[in-house]
Amino acid sequence: MTQQAPNSTWAFANPVKIFFGAGILQKLPETVTIRGEILLLTSPGHTRRGLTERITGMLPDRKIRVVDSTTPNPQIEDIRKLLIQLEPWKPDAIVAAGGGSVIDTAKAIAFALGLKGNEKNLKEILKTPTSLHHDPITPVVAIPTTSGTGSEVTPFATLWDLEEKRKYSIDSPRLFPAAALVDPELTYSLPLAETAATALDAFAQAFDSLANRRRTPISELFARASFSGLLAILPEIEQGLRSPGIRELLSRFSLLSGLAISQSRTSLSHAISYPLTAHHRIPHGAASAFVVPQLADCLGNSSNRVNATLLPSIPQDVRKALCTLVNQASPEFAALDTGGLGSLVPEMNQPGRADNFPEELSTPDLESIIARALNDISSVRN
Ligand SMILES: [Fe+2]
Repeated sequence: MTQQAPNSTWAFANPVKIFFGAGILQKLPETVTIRGEILLLTSPGHTRRGLTERITGMLPDRKIRVVDSTTPNPQIEDIRKLLIQLEPWKPDAIVAAGGGSVIDTAKAIAFALGLKGNEKNLKEILKTPTSLHHDPITPVVAIPTTSGTGSEVTPFATLWDLEEKRKYSIDSPRLFPAAALVDPELTYSLPLAETAATALDAFAQAFDSLANRRRTPISELFARASFSGLLAILPEIEQGLRSPGIRELLSRFSLLSGLAISQSRTSLSHAISYPLTAHHRIPHGAASAFVVPQLADCLGNSSNRVNATLLPSIPQDVRKALCTLVNQASPEFAALDTGGLGSLVPEMNQPGRADNFPEELSTPDLESIIARALNDISSVRN
């Protein structure tokens, strides 16, 4: 069997200026270097908890328009409504303070604001990604308030059409934020379910970046550091919710997983997750991470030596902790039954993401991997 080596031809580019550390939000005034008017995009919860006021207070001499009506798992229709709400005003910069959904919304808005009049139908554009334009877009300063998606350092935005039960991606180097302020203090009050869901996403992304034909020597460095680090702290998350040390590590490993997938893209665990979110509303992190141990086993048992030694082994206590976190992140898992998921497997096994996985898996292989993973999740619940 041929050995599966990572890409022998590769490039590296990640232009995001990163500021990291507890209290680093103070650097916001010097980070928003663009003159002119600012759109502050955030969620209603952050306005309630005072973050919106805190951020506007840090930029007293700037004209800021606040939009805090963003929604989780942004839909194309949500973006269209936000664009109508803003018209005819155009910001000179966007500050996005929130989780991955807020940051993805900011990227989609920045992208759409740059479209010419006759290209305004975002959905049509997303269906035919070849028409993506390459002019500069409104710069985004990302302030993540969760530790999981890594969207603050990636060139893509995920949008949904939940009526059509489809997920769309905008993927363009123009979508890299101009800067990211990753301040673990902003995650201190994140409840257990969201902490679990986002940590699981970071874990699945680090896995997908390693278990990926498109990995490069540099993406491997980021992915390996994130994956190994998360292996060590997944069992500590529940007890460590109030620990600044654990919060800082979660922010660090989430950032590293974002940097990893910014180069390699994701792979099979994410391909499996999208239909679960679209059809069953399973939160993204749980929908992708639940199957990681079985996919790791599949690589570990490979007759291909490179694949078999690609990942550190996942200890038993981490497997158990992962199942517990999946249940904490997603009570919806209890309603899933393996039989009902069989029809989704062809949708999961789509080229472009699933085939980044370095082993070839048939539909029955995938069905049995998912069944075993679901079984593990439910055995921890019972
Ligand atoms: Fe993800």
